[in-house]
Amino acid sequence: MLCLGIETSCDETAIALMQNKRLIKERIASQENMHAVFGGVVPELASRKHLQALPLLFDEFFSLDKYEAKKLDFVAVTRGPGLLGSILVGLGMAKGLVLATGAKLIGINHLTAHMLASGVEQELSFPALGVLISGGHTQLYFISSCVDFRVLGRTLDDAVGEAFDKTAKLLNLPYPGGKYIDQLAAFEEPNKTLFPCPYLDNTNLDFSFSGLKTAVANYIRKNPWLRFQQMQTVPDLDEIIPNCPYLSKVCASFNWSVAKALYVKTKRALEREKRVSSLMVAGGVASNSMIRGILQDLAYEYSVPLIIPSSGLCTDNATMIAYTGALLFEKGYYHDLNLEAIPRGKPIPWDYNQFTP
Ligand code: KG4
Ligand code: ZN
Repeated sequence: MLCLGIETSCDETAIALMQNKRLIKERIASQENMHAVFGGVVPELASRKHLQALPLLFDEFFSLDKYEAKKLDFVAVTRGPGLLGSILVGLGMAKGLVLATGAKLIGINHLTAHMLASGVEQELSFPALGVLISGGHTQLYFISSCVDFRVLGRTLDDAVGEAFDKTAKLLNLPYPGGKYIDQLAAFEEPNKTLFPCPYLDNTNLDFSFSGLKTAVANYIRKNPWLRFQQMQTVPDLDEIIPNCPYLSKVCASFNWSVAKALYVKTKRALEREKRVSSLMVAGGVASNSMIRGILQDLAYEYSVPLIIPSSGLCTDNATMIAYTGALLFEKGYYHDLNLEAIPRGKPIPWDYNQFTP
């Protein structure tokens, strides 16, 4: 079963080739540096860059190798949620390939793919409690199987990655700043009373991070010397990081407040959903060291395995798209050529056709 995965929902252009759910190779063309100077992803630039990069990646993949595009069984492509213009580039390429090769088309829910990404590296165990922490989403799921996700809670405002990136921007760190906060935080112990732990005084499973972000903004307004004078460039940052104890303290304290909120709500969900046999964590923020540690402790407390991808599989990639496609293809799911792109904020319909595998 040969499959190509295509991911273009935000600022990474990625393709991955898989055979029988084993990765053969992946290429990612990151746009991070291009968007960094704007302090966030510029949608128009993102789609134009995907349009340039995607055919080149494809050409590089198939021109040198023993693998031939016409042998593809299916093409799995992110169909949402994400930036509409960017998704359309991936969908256009996938549909063209399907027409040219006769492969089947499978549209993939980017969020589901994040959650299932760990399956590339380790055995998944269902039912699972899923914690999705990415730049665009923060969700708790009850996951019965690879095709059955029930949302238990979600963010009411900023996604957790967004909170990291906006806080980093306040400090004049480059976009996306989550990883720099993580690095800075490693040098100091958090002050656990410096910032509030957001939205815990309730009984629900939802999140809210905008209050925490405001608290950091107010703190920085009162202590403006904490910020870098101008946006740091990535190479400089490596030299600067060990010499910023006060900034490290702020980052560790912010990171701790976020980690605590995730811990409390995930623990509450584990209390309610007693039947789960694993805790699955995914999304870009899942590579954060403090959050990995605190959720590992929680899994231990509830005697369930923590299933979490290695760092490279946490952020956007095409391996997770190809892998999710393979799980769906095994069950006979596929899409027609009229498959639609779904932007951020809209629910992803379950509109697959099914053949008998
Ligand atoms: O899952 P992802 O690649 O993209 C979306 O689908 O949104 O997540 C990107 C997010 C960004 O907000 C980025 O700052 C954050 O993941 N991130 C981190 C770390 N690495 C990436 N946040 C905190 N600590 C990290 N180590
Ligand atoms: Zn993502």
